[in-house]
Amino acid sequence: MTGIAVLGSTNMDLVAYVERAPGRGETVTGREFRTVPGGKGANQAVAAARAGGQVTMIGAVGDDEYGVRLRSNLEHAGIDTDLLHTVEGPSGTAHIVVDDTGANSIVVVPGANGTVTALGPGEMAAIAGADLLLLQLELPLSAVIEGARVAHAQGVRTILTPSPVQPLPSELLDCVDLLIPNEHEAAEISGFTDPHASAQYLLSQVPAVVITLGSKGCLYAARGGEPVVLPAPEVTAVDTTGAGDTFVGTLAVALGERRPVPRALAWASSAAALCVQRPGASTSMPYRTEIDAA
Ligand code: RIB
Repeated sequence: MTGIAVLGSTNMDLVAYVERAPGRGETVTGREFRTVPGGKGANQAVAAARAGGQVTMIGAVGDDEYGVRLRSNLEHAGIDTDLLHTVEGPSGTAHIVVDDTGANSIVVVPGANGTVTALGPGEMAAIAGADLLLLQLELPLSAVIEGARVAHAQGVRTILTPSPVQPLPSELLDCVDLLIPNEHEAAEISGFTDPHASAQYLLSQVPAVVITLGSKGCLYAARGGEPVVLPAPEVTAVDTTGAGDTFVGTLAVALGERRPVPRALAWASSAAALCVQRPGASTSMPYRTEIDAA
């Protein structure tokens, strides 16, 4: 089994389903409200575990009701939560509006995630012992950089999802093997709106990049090779929340199993396509048998 360490966030998603998202200063009436375990780190962890990875989650939840539910959701997925610390105060929350096209907008309030500023010996050992490390940007940057450094020093392959997007210091990028932004994040980081131009720019910073393009699929580029564009399966989306995380978690398992990159990308795209057809983040992530069948 592929050993995957996830250093990242755990949030309770507070989701309102609406016909259309409100504009500035506007109030709209929603159709439904749900609380769903999410957070980019936890989502990637659940996706990887369901795809067949052996996953360790590193991060923090609060000592509130949400924290209990978030931990048990991860444990239920078979994820090792020994390094998911419970700290005083509220858990992270994500305030999400999903419209009738399945598109979302998200405000994240870090809560306990914001306390993860540095790594202890247990966290470092878990990263050093993994095959892959998954990072996102919902924890303080100091911890993300430390995690990437430990992984790099030990030859552990590191995948970074640069979301929420922010300036990426070279001390972080120097330790990243694969960067997976969506097209908006890629444009913001590179300054190029065309994904091919973005990818070329990003390859000057990291050895390989996958730019996810939503329903248009993804673009993979690695130094010294031809870029590959892979279309996404055609499906009707009800909720795109967590689709990118599903893609990353599933891709990590496939790469850990040494599948050729185009096959790994196709497998991850199938998983993301299954995810968008169901509501919620971690609740919508497919199991390995479903991905294989798709
Ligand atoms: O990527 C989706 C996730 O972003 C949601 O689950 C939410 O918690 C935010 O972190």
